[in-house]
Amino acid sequence: KPIVLSGAQPSGQLTIGNYLGALRQWDKMQDDYDCLYCIVDLHAITVRQEPAALRNASLDSLALYLACGIDPNRSAVFMQSHVPEHSQLAWVLNCYTQFGELSRMTQFKDKSERHTHNVNAGLFTYPVLMAADILLYQANQIPVGHDQKQHLELARDVAMRFNALHGDIFTVPEPFIPPVAARVMSLQDPTKKMSKSDENPWNFVGLLEDPKMISKKFKKAMTDSEDPPRVRFDLDAKPGVANLLSILSGVTGKTIAALEAEYEGKMYGHLKGDVADAVIALLEPVQKTFAELRADQTTLTNVMRAGADKARSRAAVTLARVNEAVGFVLP
Ligand code: TYM
Repeated sequence: KPIVLSGAQPSGQLTIGNYLGALRQWDKMQDDYDCLYCIVDLHAITVRQEPAALRNASLDSLALYLACGIDPNRSAVFMQSHVPEHSQLAWVLNCYTQFGELSRMTQFKDKSERHTHNVNAGLFTYPVLMAADILLYQANQIPVGHDQKQHLELARDVAMRFNALHGDIFTVPEPFIPPVAARVMSLQDPTKKMSKSDENPWNFVGLLEDPKMISKKFKKAMTDSEDPPRVRFDLDAKPGVANLLSILSGVTGKTIAALEAEYEGKMYGHLKGDVADAVIALLEPVQKTFAELRADQTTLTNVMRAGADKARSRAAVTLARVNEAVGFVLP
């Protein structure tokens, strides 16, 4: 079976953007792929985190992965920090990645402008650690949202460069980006990506949010003043409505064209109400399972330990080949 690896940062509560862009695919891919899913806590500390909050968010993420359908009997689910090979390979790959390449990463440019007081070296080399996550497992397909495309390109470039120098060590990974809702936008500013670390809670919908709050957030979502108002998909002229249509399409599986036809002559309020209801219905069973699992520390511990064991035994094989390839004396 082809190999899949993906992960999310425990830097806040996972959102419907993370679900539609990534987790939904992770679940589906378990049928046909050999999957590894990690909670990338090493990545999360590139931005300052309160330690207790990070620990809590990491365990929340673990329970949420499982509640969203990730099956620990089929997939390895683990904390990135439990598999030290990630950091070890990242160091080697740092030495095969150019300063110029990393300077061109839009996410770095973005984050370094927003966190001017803490532009640390980890933030800069973040994509190299991500490449290590992927290349360690010889992963073929990487299910991610649109915003990770550039990082994936870098992982491919580094893999090809290393292979050209040292022989066929790494599988060159492919991005796996969903056709709809790969870029869920902020509810209040639909020209900007929905982000779990957004300081304005009205911009995102968390997977653990209360249904009443979810309704309120969608009701308040920014639309436009087209006169007469029309529910149609136009990313440039109507980014708010387009975002609501994408979310509804992602959740219900209906095409955008079918939704446009369905909402012909209807008001924005109608669309908003339906999006909220669809999201609430989607999340109801997820929240229920989450609550049970989050209270069951024994299960969570067992899952993450078994996941880390499985991941480590595989990661060690690649790391040993890399160490040999670059010329380290074998222990
Ligand atoms: P992160 O934690 O920002 O997001 C996790 C996943 O959710 C996707 N995503 C979105 N999809 C659609 N709309 C949105 N608004 C939205 N926001 C986030 C992301 O694309 C991602 O797939 N660097 C990664 C984590 C990572 C990783 C990896 C991913 C570390 N190592 C190896 C894949 C493979 C990140 O920060 O994702």
